[in-house]
Amino acid sequence: MNDSECVQFLQWALPHIHMRWPGFRKVRNQVCKRLQRRLEQLQLEDLHSYRNYFDEHVDEWPELDKLCQITISRFYRDKMVFAFLEQQVFPRLLHTIEQRQETELRIWCAGSGAGEEPYTLALLWSMLFQSRFSAIRLSIVGTEINPAMIKRARRACYPYSAIKNLPLTWREEAFRKRDDQFCLRPDYQSNIEFRCQDLRQESPAYGEEPLFHLICCRNLAFTYYDMSLQQEIAQRIHASLDNGGVLMIGVHEELPPECTGFTIWSKRLGIYLRENCD
Ligand SMILES: C[S@@+](CC[C@H](N)C(=O)[O-])C[C@H]1O[C@@H](n2cnc3c(N)ncnc32)[C@H](O)[C@@H]1O
Repeated sequence: MNDSECVQFLQWALPHIHMRWPGFRKVRNQVCKRLQRRLEQLQLEDLHSYRNYFDEHVDEWPELDKLCQITISRFYRDKMVFAFLEQQVFPRLLHTIEQRQETELRIWCAGSGAGEEPYTLALLWSMLFQSRFSAIRLSIVGTEINPAMIKRARRACYPYSAIKNLPLTWREEAFRKRDDQFCLRPDYQSNIEFRCQDLRQESPAYGEEPLFHLICCRNLAFTYYDMSLQQEIAQRIHASLDNGGVLMIGVHEELPPECTGFTIWSKRLGIYLRENCD
């Protein structure tokens, strides 16, 4: 298939699974390659035949959904976001937790990939805050739809390219080289739990569990999903976030226009505060 056939197909198919084409523009190669492999598996000649295939096989839509899951990530992605977390967000949240005489900083990373983002947060905490806030412990939940990514996250070994943006001292302290991989030391993994969950169906704070102080939902819902799904997810995040808690989305993302309940803290960095509803 050529690029324009693939683009045409995606423009037709994505709205059927509540996704939107503009989010895929830059990463379409990854999806087009997967589509080619899928055609071969199904022994279909081209995307036109694949399009017809959906008429008879409604169970193909969830397969297409899987083909459209983009898994690109790395440690310390968008450096200036982590600088803002260090200088503004963590101090503010920790101050509130201390004032309320609570003992836990709770974070949810939605779409946690192979653990790059939650582990970066755990490193930020360990390297810069833990000793100053010894009465507080960190608890991070990473949720991820793809079981293979969860497996990689639990293993916590990465190529150099995934960790190269981290400050050198953190890298040297926290990783051990094993063959050609860099493996995170177990003490930096202990406060993170990974769960296999679909952000569109579930959130870890539903039910009995306490609300989160910080929720990261970067480079997923607000890039790839259509507006109605974005709106639903923004509401789910709102319901899972503590009053005055912080939402971090990707630097190239925005909350949907009719989304209420958040105020912008840094538009440039995609950081929002949950409005206090007391
Ligand atoms: C592009 S990566 C972004 C990872 C990380 N948040 C970052 O910004 O570097 C998106 C991750 O979300 C996962 N994902 C996709 N759809 C999901 C869903 N509906 N629920 C949970 N995770 C999902 C993908 O498998 C992938 O690991």
